[in-house]
Amino acid sequence: MSDEKLIIMDMGNLTSDTHSVRPTLCLGIESSCDETSAAIVDSYRNILAHIIYSQIPEHQKYGGVVPELAARAHILAIDDVIKQTLAKANKTIDDIDVVAATAGPGLIGGVLVGWMAATGIAQSTNKPLVAVNHLEGHALVPRLSATLANGSASGVQIEFPYLLMLASGGHCQILLVRGVGKYEMIGQTLDDSAGEAYDKVAKMLGLGYPGGPIVDKRAQAGNPNAFKFPRPLCDKPGCDFSFSGIKTAARTFLDKHTGELSEEYINDFCASFQAAVVDCITNRLQNALKDDRVRKATPKTLVVAGGVAKNSAIRSAMEKMAQKNNMIFAAPPMNLCTDNGAMIAWAGLENFAIGNVVKEPVAPRPRWPLTEL
Ligand code: KG4
Ligand code: ZN
Repeated sequence: MSDEKLIIMDMGNLTSDTHSVRPTLCLGIESSCDETSAAIVDSYRNILAHIIYSQIPEHQKYGGVVPELAARAHILAIDDVIKQTLAKANKTIDDIDVVAATAGPGLIGGVLVGWMAATGIAQSTNKPLVAVNHLEGHALVPRLSATLANGSASGVQIEFPYLLMLASGGHCQILLVRGVGKYEMIGQTLDDSAGEAYDKVAKMLGLGYPGGPIVDKRAQAGNPNAFKFPRPLCDKPGCDFSFSGIKTAARTFLDKHTGELSEEYINDFCASFQAAVVDCITNRLQNALKDDRVRKATPKTLVVAGGVAKNSAIRSAMEKMAQKNNMIFAAPPMNLCTDNGAMIAWAGLENFAIGNVVKEPVAPRPRWPLTEL
């Protein structure tokens, strides 16, 4: 494995560690898509070591993740990633109290690699094992680390319940997070996820993979009013999303265009597309705040998580919305938005704390909704 593909993160201490009781240490493993990642996180919210091996260069030439290649790449990388994580934290496996790994949802070939590695480690060392739902990893990581806006002190942990916009490559959901394992679906996409829409539009424009960060960057230099993208479902009640109409509109605009795509055209296209996505997200979240279940729960914090949470326009629109509604806005730091081992280690710790450990063999699941925890 070449070094340039490894992202080794030095997060330092997230909280000043003045606790007297030894913290619980969790080794977390993530392998559900195109990142092989491991982290050691402690129960005082310190990330001791975190390694992400990104397969993006392997999939780039195909314009998206190829599941078979991803599974093989995970097999080749997983041992090194775990060994390097332990070495970086200056720990041995004996120092670890609990092992956690993604058991779904995701590309099953990859999930199996991480899950079997974790099972092997846990069984051979007699350590407790947690089967983490990947979406729960995204949903809980803001409790490990988040930038809080609206006057809150940094380093403070966000509390349950919170209203979560979970937007990734595979999912787009508004959830009421009541506690660990307690998720209520307020709205979800009827077709594509937000990340998928970004990736597909980028592909149409020939911008490469993954499309989200590229479209986000291009959008910053463009005119959001240049193209009239639809805002599907925004004239309807409810909190569900639909992105396929936006994608079709993109195709239609491009089919009508003749000649080369100028830089200006691409930037305007990206800005207009992104404005439509942002409008859909804010429209659906406004409705979510009026939902009876949400009103009764009175969440104090509005949270965004998942790969798409890296998006600057979505973050700032949600921050404004939180301010208007007298809520705190919280988002994980950029490197904890896209898939990573630290979020799995943290979800492992949160589940371990409530006794949710594996008691009998677990079969990883390609589909595993948060509402089925
Ligand atoms: O959470 P994630 O790493 O993987 C899944 O669990 O699916 O999310 C990856 C997705 C991709 O679709 C990628 O294009 C999108 O997150 N993404 C972004 C940005 N950065 C990553 N989308 C919009 N703006 C960004 N800055
Ligand atoms: Zn993910």
